[in-house]
Amino acid sequence: MTTTLITGIGELTTNDPEVSGTALVLEGDRVVWVGEGEPAADTRVDVEGRAVLPGWVDSHTHLVFAGDRTAEFGARMAGKPYTAGGIAVTVGATRAASDDELAANLKRHVAEAVSQGTTYVETKTGYGLSVVDEVRSAKLAREHADEVTFLGAHLVPAGTTADDYVDLVRGEMLDAVAPYVRWADVFCETGAFDEDQSRAVLEAAAAKGLGLRVHGNQLGEGPGVRLAVDLGAASVDHCTYLSAKDVELLAGSDTVATLLPACDLSTRQPLPNARGLLDAGATVALASNCNPGSSYTSSMAFCVTTAVLQMRMSVEEAVRAATLGGAQALRRDDIGVLRPGARADVHVLNAPSTTHLAYRPGVPLTRAVWRAGVRVL
Ligand code: NIG
Repeated sequence: MTTTLITGIGELTTNDPEVSGTALVLEGDRVVWVGEGEPAADTRVDVEGRAVLPGWVDSHTHLVFAGDRTAEFGARMAGKPYTAGGIAVTVGATRAASDDELAANLKRHVAEAVSQGTTYVETKTGYGLSVVDEVRSAKLAREHADEVTFLGAHLVPAGTTADDYVDLVRGEMLDAVAPYVRWADVFCETGAFDEDQSRAVLEAAAAKGLGLRVHGNQLGEGPGVRLAVDLGAASVDHCTYLSAKDVELLAGSDTVATLLPACDLSTRQPLPNARGLLDAGATVALASNCNPGSSYTSSMAFCVTTAVLQMRMSVEEAVRAATLGGAQALRRDDIGVLRPGARADVHVLNAPSTTHLAYRPGVPLTRAVWRAGVRVL
């Protein structure tokens, strides 16, 4: 296995208080050394005083889709509200697309994310909503993303009732999709699935051995956070509308609050109360929620910038939430950190410090990226 020395680091974010330095050694797909000095290596890369951090961990995307919702976005910018119903438009386009079209779209979006410093991507099914189309989505996602979540309970498709559809999702559909996914998720929201329906799907998925995630509290206060914490979900995502009780529940649990600020901006919702969550002691992640309806960006840097400039997170908190926080939301301890044994996911900024992510909003600052030890930029 070849080794690579990355040296000349001006500011190193490791997300491990025990690990610091100005140089890293990668071997194969792992970090094997972090410290001061210049150990011998097959390749030497001098980053000339730039900032180095773990690659972004994007723990919430919906990349198995076809079609476009520019018109819906335009209508929203003209004052129409976002509703769950728009999902059906993407379901139609996704069902009509060939496997090759879906794979090409998925690969293109993952590549777009990687070129901006994302090195680990979770993605979901949820635009198939039939047994055949959900299985197809899961298989494609598994081929092109790092983690896959089953989101059959994204919307009740036309032509069926909510109760019949919930029975399908927690029965035949779950059986068929489970071999291809690690996680199950439910859109627990007005216009999608209520608390009982969401619980029924999540309990069936847990009984199958899947980890749980919940889309909750996106469009108003509701049962999402409570349900996620009660069922021990790894994360509850959106958290745009939280009661004081929700914040308290999250702070007292190991369910990560995953905030999706690009989605809130794109749907003209308020930004979530990150400060309240952090001050209460909750674990916070930031993710892009890249999807064609509510958040069509793959830019984790944009989420970090927004978190700092508009959500009163410090740069350190925001960078941590977009790296280690994402890893915690996916219950992994080998990503989102730079220490010996971690996956060699390294992001070099074209800037001397991560502060520049907020100080220079909108400027593309990704200079170099290693993903699992492979230099991809
Ligand atoms: O996370 N909220 C539910 N699902 C996606 C939106 C999907 C869509 O509108 O196509 C989300 O925002």
